[in-house]
Formats: sequence, structure tokens, C-alpha cells
Amino acid sequence: MNAPSYSIPGVMPAATVPAAAPDEPAHTPVDSGARSVAQVLAQSQVEDVLAELERDLVGLAPVKARIRDIAALLVIDKLRINLGLTSQAPSLHMSFTGNPGTGKTTVAMRMAQILHRLAYVRKGHMVAVTRDDLVGQYIGHTAPKTKEVLKKAMGGVLFIDEAYYLYRPENERDYGQEAIEILLQVMENQRDDLVVILAGYKDRMDTFFQSNPGMSSRIAHHLDFPDYSVGELMQISGKMLETQNYRFGPGAAEAFDRYLQLRTVQPHFANARSVRNALDRARLRQASRLFAERDRELTRDDLTTIEAQDILASRLFKTE
Ligand SMILES: Nc1ncnc2c1ncn2[C@@H]1O[C@H](COP(=O)(O)OP(=O)(O)OP(=O)(O)O)[C@@H](O)[C@H]1O
Ligand SMILES: [Mg+2]
Repeated sequence: MNAPSYSIPGVMPAATVPAAAPDEPAHTPVDSGARSVAQVLAQSQVEDVLAELERDLVGLAPVKARIRDIAALLVIDKLRINLGLTSQAPSLHMSFTGNPGTGKTTVAMRMAQILHRLAYVRKGHMVAVTRDDLVGQYIGHTAPKTKEVLKKAMGGVLFIDEAYYLYRPENERDYGQEAIEILLQVMENQRDDLVVILAGYKDRMDTFFQSNPGMSSRIAHHLDFPDYSVGELMQISGKMLETQNYRFGPGAAEAFDRYLQLRTVQPHFANARSVRNALDRARLRQASRLFAERDRELTRDDLTTIEAQDILASRLFKTE
């Protein structure tokens, strides 16, 4: 932590933690008094976030297991800090790979909460960006843009969606490289107050890491998000309907299951996001159906029920 040229002006940890000397980490490790795992868990309430993650998110068993491992690492690290055995923050930068709609953004927000509860980041917010938020169009525009984003993300998680677009080898003087270099420096030197999560398709991310060994070596945790099965997508639809006060009427769940069988093999299928979109369209059809019945008094049941016909009207069934 003694290379001041690497730090982002105005976002030096010292600027927000007045007690710390200019080159000390944002959260100088302090003994919280906890000596057991149970005590750390009680202090941090991180278990609540883990339980919510388990409850709210369908499937994702390998992802959930990795998150529990990371949480365990952080809890033990806390105990090591308390006994003076650890002084450096562990590297927590991650990559989340998987197809669209597999829950990457959702899980990243939960991760930010976990990191916050265990005091690895000060604020626990997440800033989600893509290439356009970091890279400028003209010479001299990229560094200020990237630094501005980093400044906003300090104390939380910076989520870079489709991170591989930062690197465009076909364009010799691409400004993306400048953004990557700034990111690399901050990921190394301010990792005690910022966690970077790179997200995107697995194959493109692998290629990106191969061409950017500096980035690859700074990513400590690779989480791969599998596609959902139709059964899991059905469970996800159940959760989505429940939170919006809707339910499937007679035969509607069966119709939606058939819809998903057809949809999953179509182009541009986007897992849980496609489920959300399909349910939005079903709600539209339900509304049009009810709207047509001008004089009927609509009951709670009418207003909350998605009927089979609201699903079966999808154009996907027309090609059957
Ligand atoms: N396992 C799950 N259980 C319940 N809901 C889920 C699950 N995974 C995703 N969702 C829901 O599906 C939607 C899309 O998820 P999210 O945006 O996290 O996916 P993503 O992988 O970031 O997608 P994209 O690549 O398109 O950005 C969100 O509304 C989210 O709440
Ligand atoms: Mg996303």
C-alpha cells in the first residue's frame, strides 16, 4: 500500500477514515472481541443474508455452496484478525459467468450485503456498469469516466456486466485498455474497500482472462451460474407470481410448463428473465380479458388469477 500513484485521487481510503494514516487500509483490522464462529455470526448477522439467499433463490446449488464457502473464509478471517494473525484483506474480486437471466446480478447484490455485514466493505451498495460507463469515445475521456465510476463504487461492489467488451484486440488503440489498467491498479491497491465482480458469458470471459492475465490473477473466486431446468423455471414463476399477488388458475401451470418446454429451446432464451417477461405478457392478456367485461363486478379471484387461456394465447403455441 505504498504506491500513491496507483490510487484514485479523492477516493483514497484515508479521505473517508480520518483516523487512518494516508497509506493505511480503509478498515484497519480491529479486534471485535469475537473468539468463536457463533460470535462472529451473531455480530454480523450474515446468516440472515445466507438464509434469505437460500429461501428466495431457486436452484443455484453450486453458486450457493460457493457463497457459503466465501462467507466461511471471511468469518474465519475475522477471527484471525481478532487474534492478530491477519492484517491484509483477502482478495475478494470475483467472476460470475453464465447465460443471461441466470441470477448473476441478483446474487451480486446479495454478495454486497454479505461483504458489508462482515465489514469488508464500508457501505455494501452495488454499482452496476458496462463498457460504455467506463470507456470514453475520445482521447482523454476514459480515465476520468473510469475513476468517477470507481469513486461511486468505493465501499461496495463494482459489477461490470459483459466485462470482456472492455478488451477489443481488433482495435489497436482501443480506450478499453486504459480502463482495464486503472481497474487493475485499484483492484490491487484498494481491495480492502472495493470488490469487483466481472460478469458475462463463460466462453467469452475465459478468452478475456487468457488475453488479460493481470485481470485473471486478481480474480480469486470464479462462480459459474448454470441454466435452470424447466422445473426450476416453474418454481421461479411461482415465486414471481406470489410476490406480485397473482396465481395460476386451473390448467394454467400446465400450460406454462408447456410454454417453457417450447421457449427454452428457442433463440434468445434468457432463463429467469424470460420467465419474468412471459409472466408480464400473461398479465397483459389477463388485463385485456377482464377489461372487455365492462359491467361485471371483478372479484379478488378474477383480479389475481392468470387463466390457462392467458398463457395459451402466446404465439409460441401457434407454431405447434
Ligand atoms: N434462482 C432464482 N430464483 C428466483 N428468481 C430468480 C432466480 N434467478 C434469477 N431470478 C430473477 O430473474 C431475473 C433475472 O435475474 P438477473 O438479472 O439476476 O440475471 P442475470 O444473470 O444478471 O441476467 P443478465 O445476464 O440478463 O443480466 C430477476 O428478476 C431475478 O429476480
Ligand atoms: Mg444482469
